[in-house]
Amino acid sequence: MESRVAVVTGGARGLGRAISLKLAKDGTAVSVWDRNLQGAEETVAMIRELEGTATAFGGDASSADDIAAAVQHTHTTLGTITILVNNAALSPFSSFEDITEEIWDQLMALNLKGPFLCCKAIIPDMLAAGWGRIINIASSAAQTGSSFGAHYGASKGGVLGLTKCLAMEYATRGITVNAVPPGFVDTEGLRESPVDVAGFAQMTPMKRPGRPENIAAAVAFLASEDADYITGHTLGVNGGRYCN
Ligand SMILES: NC(=O)c1ccc[n+]([C@@H]2O[C@H](COP(=O)([O-])OP(=O)(O)OC[C@H]3O[C@@H](n4cnc5c(N)ncnc54)[C@H](O)[C@@H]3O)[C@@H](O)[C@H]2O)c1
Repeated sequence: MESRVAVVTGGARGLGRAISLKLAKDGTAVSVWDRNLQGAEETVAMIRELEGTATAFGGDASSADDIAAAVQHTHTTLGTITILVNNAALSPFSSFEDITEEIWDQLMALNLKGPFLCCKAIIPDMLAAGWGRIINIASSAAQTGSSFGAHYGASKGGVLGLTKCLAMEYATRGITVNAVPPGFVDTEGLRESPVDVAGFAQMTPMKRPGRPENIAAAVAFLASEDADYITGHTLGVNGGRYCN
């Protein structure tokens, strides 16, 4: 089978990098998008070391213009896009009192409007191919609630709603749309936050944080042929933090 082409937003580090590597190991050509071009290029170099195929694009996943340029770059270098992983997000920890209207809008522009814009830009490729996989990275914060960022939890709740609605809308047209809400995963992003990762992990039944590879495995499954009859699903990868 000809290699599939995937786009992973926020692929310069953390979960996005692990997802990019796993998809590449599974034989998918990966377009790594990130505002951090240097990090995206590092991910691409790691994929090429595995003899995979990848390209990097530096841009803002909340900008329609940057997304259009990234799609064009991906078409030129890799071809028609049939897998989209909406992963890039801001994940701040702040009290409700500290969330200003400007901060709210900035976060929603990336975490919720970003996936909307990427879906708008890439679904036409999937429709033309008659096959597509969209995997949206949400958060267990939207399932359990969280006292560390109402804007973040609200944005990820929106991502879960977007996932279900697009799943219904495209169910007869070969495109599946699913969500993966991680629990606590040990990434640079989590370590940069004012959070005691080890202490946080004690809140999960497994008493340990997840690894980026745990999320990548779930995403790769949902992107595979084997997940052909799964759509609108929320596949939590959270050490038991939230039971569906
Ligand atoms: N790590 C966790 O514990 C955890 C838990 C729940 C959900 N998540 C979700 O998983 C995803 C990845 O999390 P992570 O911990 O790997 O994050 P991270 O902060 O380590 O990495 C995020 C990546 O997104 C990129 N990015 C940020 N803003 C961007 C923009 N405007 N345009 C393009 N790229 C941009 C960053 O440069 C970075 O490479 C996010 O959606 C996050 O909300 C993570």
